[in-house]
Amino acid sequence: MTVTQLNRRAFLRAVGATGGAGAMLATMGALGLTQSAEAATREAASYQAPRKSDFTLSGRAAAKVVVLGGGIAGLATAYELGKAGYDCTILEAQNRPGGRNFTVRGGTTTTDLYGTTQTARFSPGQYMNAGPARLAQWMVTLDYCRELGVPIEVFTNVNADAFLYNESAGMTAPARYRAAKADVFGYTTEMLAKLTDQGSLDQQLTASDKERLMEFLKDYGDLGGSLEYTGSTRRGYSVWPGAAGQPGVVAGDVPSASEVFASGVGRYFSFEFEFDQAMLMFQPVGGMDRIPYALATAIGARRIQYGSAVTRITDTEHGVTVAYSRDGRARSIEADFCVSAMPPNILAKVPHNLGSGVQSALEAITPSSAAKIGLEYRSRWWETDYRIYGGITETDLDVTHIWHPSYGFHGERGLLIGYYNTGANADSYAPLTPAQREARAVAAGVKIYGDKYRSELATSFSHHWRQFPHQEAAWHSTPGGPDDPRYKPLTAPTGHVYFAGDWLSYMDAWQHGAFSSARTAVTALHKRALA
Ligand code: ALA
Repeated sequence: MTVTQLNRRAFLRAVGATGGAGAMLATMGALGLTQSAEAATREAASYQAPRKSDFTLSGRAAAKVVVLGGGIAGLATAYELGKAGYDCTILEAQNRPGGRNFTVRGGTTTTDLYGTTQTARFSPGQYMNAGPARLAQWMVTLDYCRELGVPIEVFTNVNADAFLYNESAGMTAPARYRAAKADVFGYTTEMLAKLTDQGSLDQQLTASDKERLMEFLKDYGDLGGSLEYTGSTRRGYSVWPGAAGQPGVVAGDVPSASEVFASGVGRYFSFEFEFDQAMLMFQPVGGMDRIPYALATAIGARRIQYGSAVTRITDTEHGVTVAYSRDGRARSIEADFCVSAMPPNILAKVPHNLGSGVQSALEAITPSSAAKIGLEYRSRWWETDYRIYGGITETDLDVTHIWHPSYGFHGERGLLIGYYNTGANADSYAPLTPAQREARAVAAGVKIYGDKYRSELATSFSHHWRQFPHQEAAWHSTPGGPDDPRYKPLTAPTGHVYFAGDWLSYMDAWQHGAFSSARTAVTALHKRALA
């Protein structure tokens, strides 16, 4: 491929098939850049669940499997193996299924590693997904929702009416997403349009490329004939348009290009282009934990032993012995195979005879922090006062993300996620008492939303994964990716022990990764059992 062709490809990719879409797509097709439906294969389509008939036909008996951890990977493992009649037992340290898939409702109690106990006082119907809270359409998680009969609804990940607030850039009031986008895209397209018009891109573009680019830029930035951005109805209105005689008043005070770029609001826009975060997104109706509870029901209550913390894993000549403690008593279980779906940082602390390769691989994976606080309000003032229905307000404050609920619209009460923060920001809230966390989160929110953020507050509940027993991480970093040679002892079985988890996938911190990894372990184990 020549340099010119490469530039052409980069150009088409950057612009996207938006303005002059037909012509653009035809051009892309001619260059062989469009992907056919047949070529777009999905992992979900290639997975074949174990079947009872696999054993009936081979005359073999389904094996006994002990699954360590009742998070999504562990539950999915037992659920899939169960389809072929495997005799599975899940050992789960908590008293509920789901692991990091954890929904907090009124009455939910936690005790963190500092010894602090919280009981949520949320009203009936109000909940907070402390862990996963959104699902992309392509994710295999949705296939499980369909298969298990878990109803889903839209999760609003991006909302034109939500706010952006960068205090460090000197903002004293929030900007609406829609106004910030109009300004950022207006000024950027203005500059590119002027450069293109003046011939600055003549080396890179043919005359017809330029024509199409100009068409796109003018449309995308809402530029006038002079190629100037002077504001747009896309910014919103200070008086909304209505009946005849009420054309509305377009939001004025268009900031200068320099002011727009200095505000830093543009940094939030690429988020919604990401493969994992693009709208539409979904959530189970009533809370994310509908998924693990549906899996647990399908697996069968008798197969899940809660309150069971693994204390030793021993691979033996013909199988596996797992020691664990339950109700303060030492117990053990023997099985033909084991699938360890525990978090790697927790598993690394469990004595085993799986070798130093397994241990160093586990220790190379590092835990990350993330936290959330649920703020229940007596009224849904963000809907009535600000007309914000779902979506996320982005900030450069230590609360980072503030989520408006995507359920219960127009209800009496509502629950905001007052912070969803990660890394150092999450760690800075962790050592505080729940009351201090609430006070700090509310003080941040008041800067953006005003006094109701404090005066309408009914109750709160905060959750920090790095400080949560049996997890001690929100997610994990697997340097080099799961196929790096140092993780070979985890991606292949060691003796009779298999490993699964989102951290062993290319979609860590997503249930899709946990399901996919479980399917891989199940496929390998089943193949061996049939061999
Ligand atoms: N998957 C997690 C999220 O969407 C990290 O925030």
